[in-house]
Amino acid sequence: MDSEAASIRDEANELLKAQVHVWNHMLSFINSMSLKCAVELGIPDAIQRHGKPMSLAELETAICINGEKAQSLGQLMRALTQSGFFEKKIVIKSDDKEEGYVLTKAGQFLVRENPLAVTPFMLTVLDQDAQKPWHCLSNWFHNEDRSALQTAHGKTLWELVNNMPKFKDYFKEATANDNRLVATYLFDNSEEGNLGKALFEGLNSLVDVGGGTGAMTEAIANACPWLNCICFDLPHVVVDLQGSKNLTFIGGNMFEAVPQGDAILLKSILHDWNDEKCVKILKQCKEAIMKSDKGGKVIIIDIIICNQAEDHKLLETQLFFDLQVMVLVKGKHRDEAEWHKLFLDAGFTQYKIISKLGVRSIIEIYP
Ligand SMILES: C[S@@+](CC[C@H](N)C(=O)[O-])C[C@H]1O[C@@H](n2cnc3c(N)ncnc32)[C@H](O)[C@@H]1O
Repeated sequence: MDSEAASIRDEANELLKAQVHVWNHMLSFINSMSLKCAVELGIPDAIQRHGKPMSLAELETAICINGEKAQSLGQLMRALTQSGFFEKKIVIKSDDKEEGYVLTKAGQFLVRENPLAVTPFMLTVLDQDAQKPWHCLSNWFHNEDRSALQTAHGKTLWELVNNMPKFKDYFKEATANDNRLVATYLFDNSEEGNLGKALFEGLNSLVDVGGGTGAMTEAIANACPWLNCICFDLPHVVVDLQGSKNLTFIGGNMFEAVPQGDAILLKSILHDWNDEKCVKILKQCKEAIMKSDKGGKVIIIDIIICNQAEDHKLLETQLFFDLQVMVLVKGKHRDEAEWHKLFLDAGFTQYKIISKLGVRSIIEIYP
């Protein structure tokens, strides 16, 4: 092949590669939707219950699908095995060998009975009504609505969550499961397990600002019996909630005042707000810890966007979350420089990144 022909061939190959890239992006929704389908069919639960590698025929019977769809079930399983949710293992049956599916670590997160299941979160995010704002996104860029969710539904996220029982229940379950995972990481008995205790050691009180229905606050209160914990959220969120020996629920508005405490926890709060609102919240938190004779600190659990794309999957997941909060509440996720600016603008002088929690980090900030 002469050099001109080789360069035309290279160009054509580059074009085809670019086409694959565009097609892959265009079809990425199939990752989400096939996973949603598997969860709705109860496939992860059936494999878990089976307790050993499960053949396609056994799976078909267990989830009671229409007999005409057996081949399609095989296609679904092939795609999700390729995506890392299931794995194929060989089962020896008398003198015969058969292939069966088992759950991978990621697949186990889809089992409904798993107290750490991501299933409620997934069913919320992928619900048809929750997907609607994505179809309005380009409209929203032109209109005056605060969020694409409002363009789609005429309601804020919290109005939607509180008025639609399916969202209310899933949201509650989703945050409870996530908080359980974070608590497991903070308080398990490995060396890292001392991290939670180290965070709260020497403190008498903690206020979990925007603590929702208190799943995280309760886990901290149980693991640190010396700590008086307050779960602080909007009055209607905490109105009927019962505390315990070292857990109290207080209703209020974090933009107006925050209960006094040696430390304040802000978990998954600041990404919902613009810089101006975040500075307001942080200033209220600073005032609340300054009243404490322990000097105090604010503990933030949230995403720090990693600018160097060493871990492509991590960065991609962080950017997905960034767009997700943008669509839902016009929120945003921040990189380290943006976080630092917020802290300085709110009057804090130092910060320390304590640990990584998957896509999120734990940051401590000091007055
Ligand atoms: C994304 S959720 C985070 C819940 C919890 N921190 C967690 O990580 O599971 C945000 C919380 O902020 C609360 N919130 C919103 N506006 C608030 C306000 N003005 N004052 C107090 N809490 C507020 C919401 O009710 C909700 O529970």
